[in-house]
Amino acid sequence: MKFIAYMSLQTQMMTQKEVEDFLLCIREKNSRMGVTGILLLIQGKFIQYIEGPSTKIDKLYKTIEKDSRHTDLILLDTGSIKEQQFKDWSMAYHEINERQVKDVMKNKNLDLKKTFTPKEKNNHPALEVLYTFVSTLTN
Ligand SMILES: Cc1cc2nc3c(=O)[nH]c(=O)nc-3n(C[C@H](O)[C@H](O)[C@H](O)COP(=O)(O)O)c2cc1C
Repeated sequence: MKFIAYMSLQTQMMTQKEVEDFLLCIREKNSRMGVTGILLLIQGKFIQYIEGPSTKIDKLYKTIEKDSRHTDLILLDTGSIKEQQFKDWSMAYHEINERQVKDVMKNKNLDLKKTFTPKEKNNHPALEVLYTFVSTLTN
């Protein structure tokens, strides 16, 4: 099993209905593939964590990379895992705004621009946002 975390820029705003249809489709597909994870949308930036059987994750990431609904993907982290962390989530989804990010990070001076400035992977600040947000859900 493996996981991949990446961030990207949304290319077009989605209506509520489009978001619902999008989630229905990806949750249905993920359930079939045994893929789980979480997707955050933070003011036009997606941060997603997907996990599951390695071959499925590799194939899915290739598909996601080509999706025109977003662009400029940056691979933040990837690795092997013994078991899935989001067993109950075929894809959790949260739209969060700047204030919520700052609250979660307990840092009122957090500079979102710097947080999401495209950089190379490894200790990307966006990863900290992802993992900190996840910890608030599971605590
Ligand atoms: C930000 C983002 C996240 C996505 N996450 C998933 C996902 O977790 N699972 C999935 O099956 N498709 C996901 N998709 C959609 C895929 O890119 C693709 O449209 C979908 O898997 C259908 O592919 P297919 O027509 O080749 O079956 C995502 C797309 C975007 C833009």
